[in-house]
Amino acid sequence: MTDASLFNTRRLLLGLTGGVAAYKAAELARFLIQDGVDVQTVMTESACHFVGTATLQALTGKPVFTDLWDTGIASSMAHIDLSRNVDAILVAPASADFIAKLAHGSADDLLSTLCLARDCPLLIAPAMNRQMWENPATQRNIVALERDGVTILGPASGVQACGETGMGRMLEAFELAETICAFFQPKLLQGKRVLVTAGPTYEAIDAVRGITNLSSGKMGYAVARAALEAGAEVTLISGPVCLDAPMTARLVNVVSARDMLAAVKKEISRIDIFVSVAAVADYRAISTNKQKTKKTEHSITLEFISNPDILEYVATLSRPPFCVGFAAETENLERNAEAKRRKKKLPLLAANLAQDTIGSDESTLTLFDNEGKNDLPKAPKIEQARRLIKHIASLYEKQTKKINPDTLT
Ligand SMILES: Cc1cc2nc3c(=O)[nH]c(=O)nc-3n(C[C@H](O)[C@H](O)[C@H](O)COP(=O)(O)O)c2cc1C
Repeated sequence: MTDASLFNTRRLLLGLTGGVAAYKAAELARFLIQDGVDVQTVMTESACHFVGTATLQALTGKPVFTDLWDTGIASSMAHIDLSRNVDAILVAPASADFIAKLAHGSADDLLSTLCLARDCPLLIAPAMNRQMWENPATQRNIVALERDGVTILGPASGVQACGETGMGRMLEAFELAETICAFFQPKLLQGKRVLVTAGPTYEAIDAVRGITNLSSGKMGYAVARAALEAGAEVTLISGPVCLDAPMTARLVNVVSARDMLAAVKKEISRIDIFVSVAAVADYRAISTNKQKTKKTEHSITLEFISNPDILEYVATLSRPPFCVGFAAETENLERNAEAKRRKKKLPLLAANLAQDTIGSDESTLTLFDNEGKNDLPKAPKIEQARRLIKHIASLYEKQTKKINPDTLT
């Protein structure tokens, strides 16, 4: 588990109401905890028929509150205390009944009372049978909640627990967790267009063989996610990896370095910030066999040619976007990284040791820019990506002000 105190922990009150999708809330709590969110659970009496308090208590490491009249809280005012100690409330699943209560300001149990007494944002993830969702009463209540500033997440359409198909399924746990984490991040790149390349490239030798490298794509995907969380519009150009792309990124899948360059060329003219995380293969075979080359007793010799340097191509455009490079070195990290940054004339380069980072969920990064270097101590890649995005946003803003002196205050 992440040491949340290191990473500006956000506190969420997770409310569960009486719907079949309550089982998904258990997984949601787990994802949120893994992402470093501090989760306090409150359940309605009906929710307890669908999933046990012991499950949520075990997953969050905290007692679950269910009772408005709980005397365990010193002030005996759980409805006030619980909502004061959090940054947001998420009700997932939100039943039709609970939505109706919220819309009318009803406060007859702990969860509805603390929602009414809150001074933080409220998000709800509706989950119900399609007829309940489409019912004019529910639709009226949803419109009223939106007008009151409540954020409605979903629902999605699909096969329902009752066997019918239609609108009303709660969003999946990973979708809600991603949305909540994004909700908590400052919108440092609002409206910016960011292009991220990630993963390895694969250079075919014959129909079944090729050369590639050990990049997992985890860092690039984390950068794409952190940029989305910061409010950017993100295009992710990815080599072959086994990862799910962030939900709201525009994903372009490629295989070889030349495919990746072609995809970058298509996008680059509209991009504000380019983050080159992909481990592009430096070489490819001069000639490839469309069929599978047959094995022989003899040794074989392959001849390789250099691949295009995608980052160099972008950085030397006549009007380049703000370019960020990545360097994975096995030795002399500082010297090699700074040399690469200067050679490619990059405003920012993030360097890490290949043997520590490749395939891992954590990394230690050093950032090099014109003002010197910044060490980012070991942390989960998503946290490193958020720190990197913060650094990019600050350099980007400075650069923009320099280019456009009218904006100087
Ligand atoms: C088996 C079963 C499944 C239910 N599933 C849902 C559901 O998915 N969504 C919903 O809004 N209500 C559902 N209900 C109805 C609610 O549980 C009921 O309206 C309850 O009063 C909600 O209480 P609460 O809003 O205080 O949690 C279901 C009821 C039963 C018996």
